[in-house]
Formats: sequence, C-alpha cells, structure tokens
Amino acid sequence: MTEEIVKSALSKVTYPGFTKDIVAFGFVKEIKIEGKNVSVTIDITSSAPEVAHQLTTEATDELKLAGAADVVISVQAPKMPRESSSKGKNLAPQVKNFIMVSSGKGGVGKSTTSVNLAIALALQGKKVGLLDADIYGPNIPRMLGVEGMKPEVIGNKVLPIKAYGIEMMSMGSLMEEGQSLIWRGAMIMKAIEQFLRDIMWSDLDCLVIDMPPGTGDAQLTLAQGVPVTVGVTVTTPQKVALDDSRRSLDMFRKLHIPIAGVVENMSGFIAPDTGVEYDIFGKGTSEAMAKEFDTIILAQIPIEPSIRTGGDEGKPVTFCAPTSETAKRYMKAAEDIWATIEKINEEGGVDNQAIQPNTPPGVSACSTAAAAPKQEAPASSGGSCGTGCGCH
Ligand SMILES: Nc1ncnc2c1ncn2[C@@H]1O[C@H](COP(=O)(O)OP(=O)(O)O)[C@@H](O)[C@H]1O
Ligand SMILES: [Mg+2]
Repeated sequence: MTEEIVKSALSKVTYPGFTKDIVAFGFVKEIKIEGKNVSVTIDITSSAPEVAHQLTTEATDELKLAGAADVVISVQAPKMPRESSSKGKNLAPQVKNFIMVSSGKGGVGKSTTSVNLAIALALQGKKVGLLDADIYGPNIPRMLGVEGMKPEVIGNKVLPIKAYGIEMMSMGSLMEEGQSLIWRGAMIMKAIEQFLRDIMWSDLDCLVIDMPPGTGDAQLTLAQGVPVTVGVTVTTPQKVALDDSRRSLDMFRKLHIPIAGVVENMSGFIAPDTGVEYDIFGKGTSEAMAKEFDTIILAQIPIEPSIRTGGDEGKPVTFCAPTSETAKRYMKAAEDIWATIEKINEEGGVDNQAIQPNTPPGVSACSTAAAAPKQEAPASSGGSCGTGCGCH
C-alpha cells in the first residue's frame, strides 16, 4: 500500500449530497500505512451521524477493493452547537436541557407522562434521556418493557439502557427485583447526586426526569445538582389533587425553575367501544390553577385503557399507537415544552447558583434553599425553608 493508492481509492468516495469526493474537498486529514493496513482520519463539516456512517462504510469498501487488509476510518465531526446557555452547577454537563416532571402526589400519571413526553421529544428528532428519579417507586423500566434488564457498568459509571429511541436509567434497573430501600434525607441526596454524576448519557438535547411525588429533598437536591430548564406538573382534575399540584408549582417557583406547563391527566374518559367521552374526575379544572401560576395546560389526557395497558406491558402509547388522539396530545405537549426551552435559552438560560447549599453537602437539606428564593416566594410555608422538605 502507498499513499497514492489510498488517496486514489478515497477519491472514489463522494461526500453525501455532493458530486465532489472527500479528497477533493480536503476532508482527508491523516493517512497511516503499515504494510497492508491503513488508518485514515476524515474531518467533516456535518454533525449528522448518517454522514459519518456512510463515509466510513464507503471508504472502507474502496480501500479493501484497492487491496488493503485492515482498515480503520475515524471520522471527526464538529460538535453540535450547545442550545443551552444555562449557568451554575451541572453534574451532568453532557446534557443540554433538563425537564423536571413533578406532581403533588403519587398515582396521578407522572411516570406515564414522563415516558410519553420523552418518546414524543425523541420522535421529534431530539436526543433524549429519561431519568427515573422516583426512588420510592421506580417503575419506568416496566413502562418501557425493560424491567429485569441490567445495565452495563464501566468502572464506577453505568451505561443507560436504550428503548424506544431514548436512553433510560432507573434505580429499578440497579436494584434486584422486589427489593425495596428505605430512604432517609441524606441518603436521598446522595443517591440523586450519584445518579446525576455517574450515568454515561450521550450528548443529550434533553433529559426528562420523573421525580418522586411531593416537594422534598429529592427535588431540592436535583435542582441544586443541575440547572433545570423547565418544570412540568402533572395533575388529575379533582379539587383535592389540584391542592397538591399547587404546592408542586409553588416549589418550581421557589427553586427558580421556569414552569413549562401543566398536564391534566385522567381528564375525562373515552369509552373504547363507543368513543363517547365521559367526565369522571372532572375536566378542565386545572385551567384556573395554570393561570394563577402564569402558565398553560400542555395537554388534557383522557383516561384510556390503552394508556394503562401500554404502561403495564411496556408499550407506550405515543410509540405504539402514534395515530391515537392521546399520542397526538403528547406530541403537541412535547412541541410546546421544546418551544419554551428554546425561548429560555435564547433569553440566557437558567442559573441554579442562587439555590446552592450554603452548608456542606449531606449536612442539611433544609438550610440550603433558604438564602435566595425566600424573599421572592410567597410566604405560604410559614417558617420553613420553603421547599416543603419538612424542616423547622
Ligand atoms: N390517562 C390514563 N388512562 C389510563 N390509565 C392511566 C392514565 N394515566 C396513568 N394511568 C395508569 O395509572 C397508574 C398510575 O400512573 P403512573 O404514571 O404510574 O403514576 P405516578 O407516576 O404519578 O405514580 C398506572 O397504572 C398507569 O398506567
Ligand atoms: Mg411513578
């Protein structure tokens, strides 16, 4: 093998979408030859993975045709521009945007919403991760049909599990089945921090985080660990659920997290046989609450048997029944959330500096948020730190 033979072989490879070849474009940067083995470095201008893949395949084929034995092609693509301009502490810097999905209480469909929004964002071309931070009831693995699957561990880092076009990690995937853990304050904080730091996410456009219900240590630690771009609150329409959801929205405010909107879940019931819609828990009741917090209803998701079976069987409705009304509503909600994220980033992004702990980590979850958010937040929680973590 000589450099001339290699260059002549590579000049048969055209750049996707162009008639010019990669040698003529000047994309071939380095050629190393050892006997019949060749390694080539190619610098390209597109960050699209398909371009890199096509060039690698074609260059390898041409070099083998020209008589090469082992061929190694490294394609260097430029880094995607960061869409996030967020500042402050970020334990997962490979993630550009964080979407925190919260609810006042459990059982309202927070995990269902997180799964379907994550899949909708991925279907819209984003690189998406889903972090199941509900350490009390980690059921995302079941909802994605990957329960029992063990993630690959590399050193002290863990690789996310892939399903339905998204990356996912859950405490449920790290524990033995049926095993339960009893969490106390400092443990929760440590687990969440470790979770953020030790998962080898790819470069993600966004990470959807399914939080434990309520407004406590987990929420505070998470908001301190990464700059949360937007918060989404999931509620059901009953008055009693709305009271809890107000607390969840109030928490976003206190943690300086911009609110992307409210998902009203179990909003009406569509009978599968007739398609007739019945009002069971009420419908549209969260509208006033959204207004109160100067935000929008992202979607009204009806009670639908296919949503429940989809969750139980690991077949999310947005992926498995994309033409259903429910899937369309999740897709619309995802679009609106993304529009909010882009707007926030254009305006300078978020900053979690003001809510950083002023005591060493692990000492007290409570004293932490007291400093900054207090003066702006309505004094609804008496003398507490304002995050609802139960202190004082
Ligand atoms: N819109 C809906 N229609 C039918 N079942 C639903 C709907 N939303 C959630 N469910 C079901 O209700 C249960 C609780 O939902 P889940 O997402 O686990 O709530 P959370 O995470 O808030 O505890 C699950 O079995 C889920 O499949
Ligand atoms: Mg859940």
